[in-house]
Amino acid sequence: MPKTPAVRDYIRTIVDFPHEGIMFRDVTTLFADARGFRMAIDQMLHPYAGMEIDKVVGLEARGFILGGAIAHQLSVGFVPIRKKGKLPARTISQDYKLEYGEAIVEIHEDAIAPGERVLLVDDLLATGGTAAAGLKLIERLGGEIVSCAFIIDLPDLGGRKLLEGMGMDVHALCA
Ligand code: PRP
Ligand code: ADE
Repeated sequence: MPKTPAVRDYIRTIVDFPHEGIMFRDVTTLFADARGFRMAIDQMLHPYAGMEIDKVVGLEARGFILGGAIAHQLSVGFVPIRKKGKLPARTISQDYKLEYGEAIVEIHEDAIAPGERVLLVDDLLATGGTAAAGLKLIERLGGEIVSCAFIIDLPDLGGRKLLEGMGMDVHALCA
């Protein structure tokens, strides 16, 4: 009998993208497959069964796709964290370092009410710089972070250690 594919089997690796030396984990192949996409969303939600979550926050860009589907499944609102200059209303900003570069992320200042319980979602955890910046934004707005959910954790790059050192609960489907 052929083996049922796991989430990791739907993800491809592109060598030297966007720079030499980067092994880019491409989740578009997972998103494009109905069974793979549903499996990923169901598995990302699994640890949070029965937990109170008020908002899902997704990190640009692939965290929007996952976060939208997860928010819909939980029947809660979705909030985007975007790269600088993309959000139209009043924002707060946070700078951070990437595996390949530096950036600034922003959130609308009225997107989360103090005390709201937030789940942060993205496709991949590498150095953790992006997620840490997102978490700082949520905390600055007074949100209570329930957990951070990823499809992929690249443990050698230290992201999980960084987030756990901030006291965060971290879940990922594969390494
Ligand atoms: C990727 C990925 C995460 C981030 C992880 O996004 O989707 O958001 O990098 O890296 P880190 O843990 O080292 O911060 P990218 O910066 O490629 O942006 P994009 O989704 O807008 O293309
Ligand atoms: N973001 C940072 N490192 C990455 C990688 N190796 N693949 C996909 N996205 C990334």
